[in-house]
Amino acid sequence: MGLHPVGIIGTGKYVPERILTNQQLEQMVETNDEWIVTRTGIKERRMAAEAEATSDLAYEAAKQAIAAAGVTAEDLDLIIVSTITPDMFFPSTACLLQTKLGATKAAAFDLSAACSGFIYGLATATNMIATGMYNHVLVVGAETLSRITDYTDRNTCILFGDGAGAVVLGQVEEGRGFRSFELGADGSGGELLKVGGGGSRMPSSEHSIATKQHFIHMAGNDVFKFAVRIMGSAAEDALAKAGLAKEDVDLLIPHQANIRIIQSALNRLNLPEEKAMINLDKYGNMSAASIPVALAEAVEQNRVKEGDTLVFVGFGGGLTWGASVLVW
Ligand SMILES: CC(C)(COP(=O)(O)OP(=O)(O)OC[C@H]1O[C@@H](n2cnc3c(N)ncnc32)[C@H](O)[C@@H]1OP(=O)(O)O)[C@@H](O)C(=O)NCCC(=O)NCCS
Repeated sequence: MGLHPVGIIGTGKYVPERILTNQQLEQMVETNDEWIVTRTGIKERRMAAEAEATSDLAYEAAKQAIAAAGVTAEDLDLIIVSTITPDMFFPSTACLLQTKLGATKAAAFDLSAACSGFIYGLATATNMIATGMYNHVLVVGAETLSRITDYTDRNTCILFGDGAGAVVLGQVEEGRGFRSFELGADGSGGELLKVGGGGSRMPSSEHSIATKQHFIHMAGNDVFKFAVRIMGSAAEDALAKAGLAKEDVDLLIPHQANIRIIQSALNRLNLPEEKAMINLDKYGNMSAASIPVALAEAVEQNRVKEGDTLVFVGFGGGLTWGASVLVW
């Protein structure tokens, strides 16, 4: 892609200590472990401590990624934080992270594409490095979804968790790095998954709080159908753009929303389950953090080797989707 090949040169992750299990959820809403496991594959998820916000999670993941890349915070030219749960409206979480890291030479901005945010961030950073504008870009997916989840709504509260994953992107040798990106959006489906309150359309008020507009609202079934359709097709399109076939895939790193959605993508791509990184049983859906945390764990577990072909694919609110092919 472009003049310089661009790849991931360091990964990191952080998840909060506190665990919320299916058994604990049984005490909170009318649900049960068996329903949650068979319908979603999720067994537990992490919850940020009271004093922890998104930039704190991002900071821990970013420090690891910077160290793994063998660079320092001063080497960063840009910080992108993909999140739908920023610490506050502004300053951006990326600016809060920039000062925590001491990344004094880095520009910084947040990117809003919900669960597809990390792939959107990779595409943005890759192009900036490929064209020679920047050398090192930190891309973080970080969320504290527990802060916008209604723990009296069994349709949503079983799904989401908190965490952060980070990567440093830089130039890599010929033959390695990102081969393609496939990004998309369909704003007509925006109503299916949203937090409607607290913005300029419906500023926070007693009414917005009373009607729970500060929480996630989701039409689960419609999102499910969209996800099943788009995960397979986005991954296929990214592979076609890269000039590669399904058989070339060594590891699929999908968004971790629901095991049944991942299985349908695997079927479409003719891949066995061993070729997918799956950790949603431990963390649930961490939105923009799911894919980078799964990648960091795949690296920790030595599941990616030099020359391997990786496919990232995700979907989410917006509606949005994204897929990418990377030679490690
Ligand atoms: C949410 C989701 C797990 C629900 O699974 P589903 O198989 O579609 O289930 P349905 O919504 O059809 O609900 C089936 C029944 O289970 C009930 N149910 C919903 N949540 C429940 C829970 N936590 N425990 C027990 N029962 C539950 C429903 O009320 C419904 O009951 P009814 O038939 O009496 O009305 C699934 O739709 C999904 O994963 N959607 C995608 C969500 C997603 O990925 N969002 C984030 C995008 S990034």
